[in-house]
Amino acid sequence: MAAGSIVHQANEDQTGSSMMAWRVHEFGPPDVMRFERVQLPGPGPGEVLVKVAAAGVGPWDGWIRAGKSALPQPLPLTPGSDLSGEIVAVGPEVSDLRVGDQIYGVTNTRFTGAYAEYALASAAMVSSKPTSLTYTEAAAVPVVAVTAWQALFDQAQLKPGQTVLIHGAAGNVGAYAVQLASRAGLRTIATAGTDDIPRVRDLGANTVIDYRTQRFEKEVKDADAVIDLVGGETQERSFQVLRRGGKLISAVSRPDQHRAQSHGVEAAFFLVNVTSQYLAKIADLVDGGKLRTFVGAVLPFADAREAHFMLERLRPQPKGKIVLTVGPDHPGNGSQSRFPPPARPDPGGTDK
Ligand SMILES: NC(=O)c1ccc[n+]([C@@H]2O[C@H](COP(=O)([O-])OP(=O)(O)OC[C@H]3O[C@@H](n4cnc5c(N)ncnc54)[C@H](OP(=O)(O)O)[C@@H]3O)[C@@H](O)[C@H]2O)c1
Repeated sequence: MAAGSIVHQANEDQTGSSMMAWRVHEFGPPDVMRFERVQLPGPGPGEVLVKVAAAGVGPWDGWIRAGKSALPQPLPLTPGSDLSGEIVAVGPEVSDLRVGDQIYGVTNTRFTGAYAEYALASAAMVSSKPTSLTYTEAAAVPVVAVTAWQALFDQAQLKPGQTVLIHGAAGNVGAYAVQLASRAGLRTIATAGTDDIPRVRDLGANTVIDYRTQRFEKEVKDADAVIDLVGGETQERSFQVLRRGGKLISAVSRPDQHRAQSHGVEAAFFLVNVTSQYLAKIADLVDGGKLRTFVGAVLPFADAREAHFMLERLRPQPKGKIVLTVGPDHPGNGSQSRFPPPARPDPGGTDK
């Protein structure tokens, strides 16, 4: 069926339909979030309408709700970007997705719209859900896994045999970065808290430094790259562990360029760009048992505000991603946490 007729049919079916969504009418603390009945949206050019099964919750959702996003965020808005679910309508100019496709990915470049029963997503920012994962597991993956990939291979441009220091290796992005680095044949040095050391080693790190008891700059020198997922003074102390010409890549904040120059290194901040191509590569690795996925806490859709209290640390925050279950889950073949054997270097390179 042509995309246009699918849209037409979907729009007809949905005329007058409504859905539940979380809405922010004014920026502020989690209390500003309202659970409301709103009109079902229709997909525009390049968009698909997704019946949301699960939505991931990330720190950036909290910044958007609080009005601290770096991007313009017109109000009212629906928070949420990571999502998984089934396509129920396809807009014009979408050629490779169909109604009924089970997808995962993000909604749009503003990172909004996923905490809803139905969400519009840019067709270029979703891909087929890993078949081995449940919807809940899949919704935890997109932003953090793609961030890890792009930091290592696009920003730092690391090649097999090189040495990388990954800060924050036990975190959501870090756990993917360690696995991807290790698989790509990189010598992988990681920093993590005391309790997380065995887990990070198990993910494939060659060396794990306890950030609570050790000074990493005493243990590491001539690294080809540092992946900074922590920021602050950890970032500042990282210049000295790089070889001349090495790269400091931060997903947290803009590194000091004077310091970079004086150490003879490159230093950059980057924002993730989640696209179907990256999601497809990650899905292949997951389904091939080569990349483990992690879910921290699973909350019902109606508890999105609770999830934001967790983000603000006003409630105990679990380790790992928070995921909201919006619709019925798909059993997949997975479980909440997948633990295949530790990654081994891939002689074929980075799989990019
Ligand atoms: N630029 C982008 O596009 C982009 C995309 C995604 C994420 N991010 C950012 O990337 C950062 C990491 O995200 P995430 O989701 O992985 O966060 P996360 O899950 O909270 O992980 C952070 C990890 O860093 C550890 N840590 C804290 N202080 C440390 C230190 N001094 N040395 C080493 N490790 C330390 C924490 O350990 P403890 O449990 O011991 O505190 C935790 O395991 C966040 O700032 C996030 O906003 C940016």
